[in-house]
Amino acid sequence: MPLTTDPKFARVNTEASMGNTTQPDLPRLETPSSPSEEQKANPAHRFPQAAMVASRIQWSNPKLMVLEGALPQDVTGHCIVMGPVGDDTMQPLTGEPFLHPSSGGVSRFNGDAMVHRFDFGQGQAHVTSRLLKTPCYYADAATAPGSPYADLHFSSSGLGRFSTSLGFRDEINTACVPVKFAGDDHWRLLAAWDAGRPYEIDPETLEVITPIGRNDEWRPQSLPIPQGPFPIVCTATHHLFDDRTQELFTVNWGKSNATMAGPLILHALAKLGKQHPFAMGLARIILRIITTLTSWFKGLHPAKESDDFVNLIRWDGGDRLKHWQVHLPNGSPLRIQQSMHQVAASRNYIVLMDTAFKLGPEQLLPNPLPGHGDIEIHLREMLDYAQLADTPVYLIKRADLDLAADKVTAKRLTIPREIAHFRVDYDDSEGVVIHAAHNNAWDSAESIQRYDRLVNDSPEASEQAVTANIGMATTTTDLNSLARYVIDPEQAQVVGQEIVRDRDLTWSPALYADNGTLNLPERYNNIYWNAWGCWDDLLTDFVCDLYEEHKYREMDPATVRRFAQEGVPANLCRLDTQTMQIADHYRFPLGTFGNSPQFIPRPGQDGNLSGGDGTDGYLATVVVFDDEQGYPQSQIWIFEGQNLAQGPICKLGDPSGQFQMGLTIHTTWIPEIGPRKATYNVPVREDFEPSLLNQPAIVRELFETQIYPHFEA
Ligand SMILES: [Fe+2]
Repeated sequence: MPLTTDPKFARVNTEASMGNTTQPDLPRLETPSSPSEEQKANPAHRFPQAAMVASRIQWSNPKLMVLEGALPQDVTGHCIVMGPVGDDTMQPLTGEPFLHPSSGGVSRFNGDAMVHRFDFGQGQAHVTSRLLKTPCYYADAATAPGSPYADLHFSSSGLGRFSTSLGFRDEINTACVPVKFAGDDHWRLLAAWDAGRPYEIDPETLEVITPIGRNDEWRPQSLPIPQGPFPIVCTATHHLFDDRTQELFTVNWGKSNATMAGPLILHALAKLGKQHPFAMGLARIILRIITTLTSWFKGLHPAKESDDFVNLIRWDGGDRLKHWQVHLPNGSPLRIQQSMHQVAASRNYIVLMDTAFKLGPEQLLPNPLPGHGDIEIHLREMLDYAQLADTPVYLIKRADLDLAADKVTAKRLTIPREIAHFRVDYDDSEGVVIHAAHNNAWDSAESIQRYDRLVNDSPEASEQAVTANIGMATTTTDLNSLARYVIDPEQAQVVGQEIVRDRDLTWSPALYADNGTLNLPERYNNIYWNAWGCWDDLLTDFVCDLYEEHKYREMDPATVRRFAQEGVPANLCRLDTQTMQIADHYRFPLGTFGNSPQFIPRPGQDGNLSGGDGTDGYLATVVVFDDEQGYPQSQIWIFEGQNLAQGPICKLGDPSGQFQMGLTIHTTWIPEIGPRKATYNVPVREDFEPSLLNQPAIVRELFETQIYPHFEA
């Protein structure tokens, strides 16, 4: 279906027009006053519904219209944007191109992967998009209600989609990682998320080619239930490709039942302790006895492999993945309490973190009893807990990665405050340099539930906003910050740190963009951060209570609530990492959600694509907003890398409203695309046959008739 370019369908939002963009010299919001009821009723003040919709339309190279400004000739290459778009059972709203994927209460991050590729050149942009159809995608589609296999169906809950007969969906909807090994003519793309192995997709056709690693090369998360042929596998979304050594590094991690239950027990104890100090003391004694008995039992069965594990994985593009189980210097296996969302590397060290994005029971089961809100409230009180206030960091010396060994030792240190996303300089001659965004008191794994109450609104207004935004990640409950750390890797100590906070610009710093997309720079001199702002209609009582007494609280909760009432819009800012100043920024208009930034280097005279100091290029962002009629709009805004403050120099889109991106997540960029010549392939039948041996006949039939044919044509 071509995108219409007929101007009679134009729905241009005059509020967000280029002549009326937010200016960079807005006065600082020191002590915001509460907005009037009229202001709050204004749609421009609300989180846009354009982020809550998703479209499953797959575009085939239509040209996007230049709505405002002009697209420079030297914006080139291919920008890849990933996003979740619900599941195959969902239907678009009547007469509309979009659906509401999280209206049932699942996380907005849960859904089939839609990959969008924007092809830039000669002042034009075209879009191609495809659903990523993995084996479990076909299993899901074939078991929809009404099908002969409906008894095997999948259901969504929280961040996951699960079938009691088949296991977990590997949705690969969060990021694409470019890789280019020796012998590859073109960049290749790996689609990824945290809860399943990555898949290679063809950059030309955007079709799924092969998983990376066979099933038996990935260790599943241990669960007290059978998982079928699609067990859940935990990994990083941000796999690290080192273009200098031609290696891909990633992790495969899992938690024991004790590790998963531990925070729940501590959470319950903390609540108990507040109400009954005596009972708290008794509980401590009981816990100590249990811990002692557990250690004694483990001593009797030393051969039992721990369910707490982190395997560092190296892939050189060949047939097999290389694994090292990561241990601490005392010999114990590394234990992850939250997640390991990202892998980074310097010249001599691999850097891992226990990242602030909880993957636990409450993230999988936030709404187990729809229609029984009172019970669900109590369940969440019992199951959910605050993320770690400090970030455990692990350093592995690359020289210790002996290909003949199966273990490696990591040194551990702690950085105060939470981190979900970070970058590491390749140059570690003066220490390992980590650039991080602190999402203190903000866990984007927490999503709004039907039984939530907004902290600032009346019950009626709260119910309306909660219904509109159900499933969206809650907003931050504190002012956040950007930081730079220097680590002495031998001593595993922080030897230098600088933290930047800005009362306008560092709320919910979510995503980075820089010149490290393809090649790891010696130093990140400039990093663009996209902060998601602080939204009144995403600030719930529950998360405010959860983080009210945060260990590193920056701003008192009442002031945070006033900022939220005033509305803090999303922004783009450029952090000069040498001066540690925010050197440039742009605040999106309130009610307009600017997201998913990607740095596109300006080609040099000699074809160089380094981006200079990291600013010589452009930023492409996905921008969604509701127009004056309340209709969702999605656009691509282009910014000059060296002048964010002037606002977008070009807005691209489809005025008809057919083009809907909804909530997107990570992006990447490759300079060119070409036919895939790589031969790496994991045959789907060979891969799954061993795990089907003990499955019922109907499951084996499902694979034979509904899955294998898609990969054996
Ligand atoms: Fe991420």
